[in-house]
Amino acid sequence: MSKLDAAGTYRLGDRDVRRLGYGAMQLAGSGVFGPPRDPAAARAVLRAALEAGVNHIDTSDFYGPHVTNQLIAEALHPYPVDLVIVTKIAARRGADGSWLPALSPEELTRAVHDNLRHLKLDVLEVVNFRSMLDVHGPAEGSLEAPLAVLAGLQQQGLIRHLGLSNVTARQVADAQRMFPVACVQNQYNLAHRGDDALVDSLAAQGIPYVPFFPLGGFSPLQSDALEGVARQLGATPMQVALAWLLQRSPNLLAIPGTSSVAHLTENLAAAGLVIPAGALAVLDQIAG
Ligand SMILES: NC(=O)c1ccc[n+]([C@@H]2O[C@H](COP(=O)([O-])OP(=O)(O)OC[C@H]3O[C@@H](n4cnc5c(N)ncnc54)[C@H](OP(=O)(O)O)[C@@H]3O)[C@@H](O)[C@H]2O)c1
Repeated sequence: MSKLDAAGTYRLGDRDVRRLGYGAMQLAGSGVFGPPRDPAAARAVLRAALEAGVNHIDTSDFYGPHVTNQLIAEALHPYPVDLVIVTKIAARRGADGSWLPALSPEELTRAVHDNLRHLKLDVLEVVNFRSMLDVHGPAEGSLEAPLAVLAGLQQQGLIRHLGLSNVTARQVADAQRMFPVACVQNQYNLAHRGDDALVDSLAAQGIPYVPFFPLGGFSPLQSDALEGVARQLGATPMQVALAWLLQRSPNLLAIPGTSSVAHLTENLAAAGLVIPAGALAVLDQIAG
């Protein structure tokens, strides 16, 4: 039993994961580039997450690059059987830390093998294709060619499940004609609700929606309404932001990121927080 069980579980691929997980991006150095100042502290966050019951970790080999995957392997390998590590591919980092597309068959294939090696895995449980048509948000356009390459790597047995990230509803539907889409990872939080309809349509299909920037990302959410509700509930604003996501829809899996054990502990305590209807109405106004 874990306190996280208060938020329940949801099917991701063919595994049940607790709905409060952990996003590893904040463990890399500043700007998600290079190593962290204190690698031992980063490993301690990962171990604390598992001790608290987290069994869903989101990562990528382009965090660092390679840094978060290496930290995960150092801290947690051999992995507990119930741990689901989700990675993402289709981007690479420039020498200046910029985020660039990496879409050729060679780059996609290399990315899968790099993830396997750095995470010390024989097969990747879930790989998200991260669209880079526009690095900042979903943009329409065909993803068929790179997705066909990933489907081939899945058929080779290197990947169990494929998901999508930074995509439009149309791209999700197009991909579903090629393979079962295991999850969708787009930006979504209390203040950024452009995917409301997609969250609901995926819920109707039993597909997890995994919001990135659940706390607002590099500039965590700030709002008087959020602070007011947090005060009223005796919780912190970040806990309210997470509890709101968990209450938003049963298919929503939260992966808040942090580099600190104190913030991790605070965030995971949101599993037991219930937001009453009146406070939900106040929070609904934040999205504007
Ligand atoms: N698919 C994509 O394109 C994509 C893009 C971005 C992220 N992601 C994934 O989504 C995960 C979550 O996103 P994220 O980590 O970027 O953003 P996030 O979870 O929304 O927020 C992380 C930020 O909030 C701070 N924070 C965390 N807990 C806090 C607390 N209790 N009180 C105050 N501040 C707190 C963190 O700083 P501290 O370190 O100081 O706690 C960090 O600055 C990532 O880790 C990554 O795995 C995916």
